Amino acid sequence: MWTHRHLLGIEELSVADIDAVLERAEKWHALSRQAGNKKASVLDGRTVVNLFFEASTRTRTSFEVAAQRLSADVVNVSPALSSVTKGESLLDTAKNIEAMRVDVLVVRHASSGAPAFLARRLDHARVVNAGDGAHEHPTQALLDAFIMKQRKGDLAGLVVAICGDIAHSRVARSNAILLGKKGAEVRLCAPRTLMPRHADELGATARVVPRLEEAVEGADVVMMLRVQHERLAGAMMSTTREYSRTFGLNAAMLARAKPDAIVMHPGPMNRNVELDTRIADSDRSVILDQVEAGVAVRMAVLDLLLGAQPS
Ligand code: CP
Repeated sequence: MWTHRHLLGIEELSVADIDAVLERAEKWHALSRQAGNKKASVLDGRTVVNLFFEASTRTRTSFEVAAQRLSADVVNVSPALSSVTKGESLLDTAKNIEAMRVDVLVVRHASSGAPAFLARRLDHARVVNAGDGAHEHPTQALLDAFIMKQRKGDLAGLVVAICGDIAHSRVARSNAILLGKKGAEVRLCAPRTLMPRHADELGATARVVPRLEEAVEGADVVMMLRVQHERLAGAMMSTTREYSRTFGLNAAMLARAKPDAIVMHPGPMNRNVELDTRIADSDRSVILDQVEAGVAVRMAVLDLLLGAQPS
């Protein structure tokens, strides 16, 4: 049974919680694929507020679509056009929005722990972490798990290579934790300067593999990550061309994976840097399926947080 008031990270979820989200998402995925009316009334009369302090295309839009599909009202607050620009704090901003009796705040912030900080201080609004610093991006890991399960079945025993800028990636962290809980083998691959010092502590089954060839060998899933230029302090990597040559996924590299291996990327991608554009657009790529699943998984999360229970 789902008992969480907030969704702050994969770390706090049990395997049963993860399964509950994935199972509920199947129902909403089917509804979203229906021709004609795609709406359900489970969140009728509820209000969801997107409060994104960092840029987003997929997460913000899919939370908006998800909430609307469940008949909630949605408000997008843009910090650049809000009183944050006059110096209002994160907490005051959130508390003032909560005072309007909204039900959920979906928060993206550059600081790790910002959603948890708000969850501890708000009175009644639920908080969903839509990505906080290099800490967690729980709904991304859940939607990735949804696709892996859909394409590969049971996650236990699956070999998943996560490659790229691991140091700055909340996606890598949430995925490694989730996949560890579900018993998949996780290989983390990055240039030394883009690998966190304690990466092999990310989940019970995560292992650091320095070379891309070794990480991809025999993998069921190859997940490529964007180099987060905006978070790089100084020259932590060589030229883009050299990065692409050493850590980019191209056809020759993908041939080392299982013949039916799928290629994932959370987006936004740097085409021809971490991922050859021909692979990104090939039938091995499930990148747009991930985006589609994002709506269903976020519907499931909002439904579990609010649907069956009063705030
Ligand atoms: N995957 C992801 O978080 O994408 P956005 O930054 O566009 O939301």
